[in-house]
Amino acid sequence: MKNIAILASGSGSNAENIVNYFKDREDISFKIYSNKKDAFVLERAKRLGVPCESFLKSELEDGTLLSKLISEKVDFVVLAGFLLKIPDAMLSVFPDRIVNIHPSLLPKYGGKGMYGMKVHEAVVAAGEKESGITIHIIDDHYDEGSVVFQTTVPVLPTDSPEDVAHKVHELEYKYFPQVIDELISKL
Ligand code: GAR
Repeated sequence: MKNIAILASGSGSNAENIVNYFKDREDISFKIYSNKKDAFVLERAKRLGVPCESFLKSELEDGTLLSKLISEKVDFVVLAGFLLKIPDAMLSVFPDRIVNIHPSLLPKYGGKGMYGMKVHEAVVAAGEKESGITIHIIDDHYDEGSVVFQTTVPVLPTDSPEDVAHKVHELEYKYFPQVIDELISKL
């Protein structure tokens, strides 16, 4: 059995899509953690029948969450719209075992404060002709670390940030579970 922790801060549509992709796999179990106790991802988890809980930012920083992940024998961590920085201690315990998805073609439009709609607004404001997704193993800098997968989507001159968000989400739903599947098959 491989135990996967999904960390998410918001709506959790990626988290739900990942859980659904693996729903017939008896070798994989999920638990969803959120740093926001009222995040919609926790509603989704309950609806999906996936264990879930919230934690405080201070519990991420002081190692409380890390101790829990260790005691629950977590093998791999997925950041699916998770907006806090992962502390060094967690990186040491899960080397090359924390994957993040970012809704742009990193290194463009990454870094602290660049998340969700802010990314798509910046892409449209800059007149970019394409955007996309980056799936990467995280390191100790926001939105850096080794890139596992990138793919692009055209941005039309008439596209609003919401249009770009929609296209990028479609890419996320298609590719993120497949990439996770490949990564965990190597554990
Ligand atoms: C996703 O688009 C994800 O790429 C992005 O947040 C969104 C979460 O959507 N992540 C970041 O911006 C990380 N810097 P969701 O909650 O519906 O899955």
